[in-house]
Amino acid sequence: MVDVARHDIVIVGGGAAGLRAAIAVAEASPDLSVALVSKVYPMRCHTVSAEGGAAAVARADDSFEMHGYDTVKGSDFLADQDVIRYFVEEAPAELNRLEHWGCPWSRNDDGSVATRAFGGMTTKRTWFATDKVGFHMLHTLFQHSMRFDSVVRYDEYFATKLLVDGGVCRGVAALDIRTGEVSAILGRAVILATGGAGRIFPFTTNGMIKTGDGMALAYRAGVPLKDMEFVQYHPTGLPGTGILITEATRGEGGYLKNSEGERFLVERDYGVGTKAELGPRDMISRAIIQEIEAGRAFKGPYGEYLHLDLTHLGEELIDKRLPFVRELGRIYIGVDPVYEPIPIRPVVHYMMGGVDTDIDGATTLPGLYAAGEVACVSLNGANRLGSNSLTECLVFGARAGLVAVEFANGSSAGNEDALRAQADEERAHIDALRGRVKGGEKISQLRREMTSAMEDGCGVYRHQDTLRACVQSLAQLRGRVSDLRLEDASRVFNTELISALELINMIDVAEAVAISALDRKESRGAHTCREYTARDDQNYLYHTLCSFDPAGPRLGKKDVTLGTWEPEERKY
Ligand code: FUM
Repeated sequence: MVDVARHDIVIVGGGAAGLRAAIAVAEASPDLSVALVSKVYPMRCHTVSAEGGAAAVARADDSFEMHGYDTVKGSDFLADQDVIRYFVEEAPAELNRLEHWGCPWSRNDDGSVATRAFGGMTTKRTWFATDKVGFHMLHTLFQHSMRFDSVVRYDEYFATKLLVDGGVCRGVAALDIRTGEVSAILGRAVILATGGAGRIFPFTTNGMIKTGDGMALAYRAGVPLKDMEFVQYHPTGLPGTGILITEATRGEGGYLKNSEGERFLVERDYGVGTKAELGPRDMISRAIIQEIEAGRAFKGPYGEYLHLDLTHLGEELIDKRLPFVRELGRIYIGVDPVYEPIPIRPVVHYMMGGVDTDIDGATTLPGLYAAGEVACVSLNGANRLGSNSLTECLVFGARAGLVAVEFANGSSAGNEDALRAQADEERAHIDALRGRVKGGEKISQLRREMTSAMEDGCGVYRHQDTLRACVQSLAQLRGRVSDLRLEDASRVFNTELISALELINMIDVAEAVAISALDRKESRGAHTCREYTARDDQNYLYHTLCSFDPAGPRLGKKDVTLGTWEPEERKY
């Protein structure tokens, strides 16, 4: 039988949203025991790689109204407006709180917090700590979380199944990667904060760990995934590696140029108006693809690319505001941006979709909450504005934590025998997979087929025929993944086993993306169909829900919460 660890609240994910939730619980109810279960050591969570900043109103020329309007317009009017309102109002307090916990926000000469421009925002509202914002935020949250004895960490534990008793989520089965043992980590509420799923694509800014685990766990437990068709391409990734070159480069005044040396966002009509390089990401990514298709790109060993030119900004500003970009350029592509333009191309960066939650982070499974990129609280709609997501992790991580406390206080611990039996089953499943030499399929092959199906079907521009082919390939992969062959039967740090479990998760998530995309026959935000070029509010102003079914995903709909801001044509 598996070991059982008992806590009050189980948080899965050690990045910004998970840590913020843990702190909220610990501060609100020091008597509640919190399990923080993370696939990697918290400082290795993907939050660490965020670069450009976190958005919140800070200046006299700004307002909640403006931040809200920018966000809803950026979302192509698919975001829920009650969620936006709550978010913009809570955002400044969250970033100030982080300052009190030690986050070294960059300052203006007068000592006030400095803010920079970001895409789709009407004024400078992105707080930053040079261009290593994720590192500083994560460090701050991690250190602060260590003040609370009630937070018990399970580092390098991979949660592989939600444990449900009496219709309530009461824990997870988790694989201790170091020992290979599976245990049941139980609580009276569970919060998923496992991040996104960029690794379902071949070219992404996302770290290797972002394999959609929390999305897959919730999905298989019957919770719908929402708005999965909306995948954000960041305009500026390094060719080859996909490493992010932050939008802060453009916030600080950088230019995008084609092979003719032209600032195409200024010289040509791509709908971004005077915002030029500071247009929203969906529009700029499309513009770059169109420049490539028009033959105005450079050719390199990793395909075609354009230029991000910072040479006019000068060494002093680059070293002060963008030191990490200089480091990345030099190390990973041999380019010093002080002297030469950086090669860039659009790269998968963020999932607007995720586990369907309400404004509290509550899912349709009682006792299960989600926050951060794993969740779709519907702040971002069809296109997220850069720098809203770090703040989202704080605002909704904290809210999910507090609401989970209330739920846990009113909920029993569940039947331990029944929960343990489910974890036993999961252990048997994992034991059967480990070193399963009788299977016929290789992890690497299936993974390659999955990522290339996603790239062909769910790129910046989508065609109905390639999307259909993508859906078909993924349905086949879902069948084939049950016949995996693994060579490594060892228990300690069995990375092949981890890859297999991640692949199973990714195929489920990828299928939800593709099938949701095929169903939306319009263009909205980051979902751009070649055949259906207009936004169609008459027929598609709704959230897509995708539910697990052993026979294949099932689609449904959920209303968008409108309010102050009427849907209008999205022009900049
Ligand atoms: O470009 C960036 O620094 C990314 C920021 C974000 O995705 O919010």
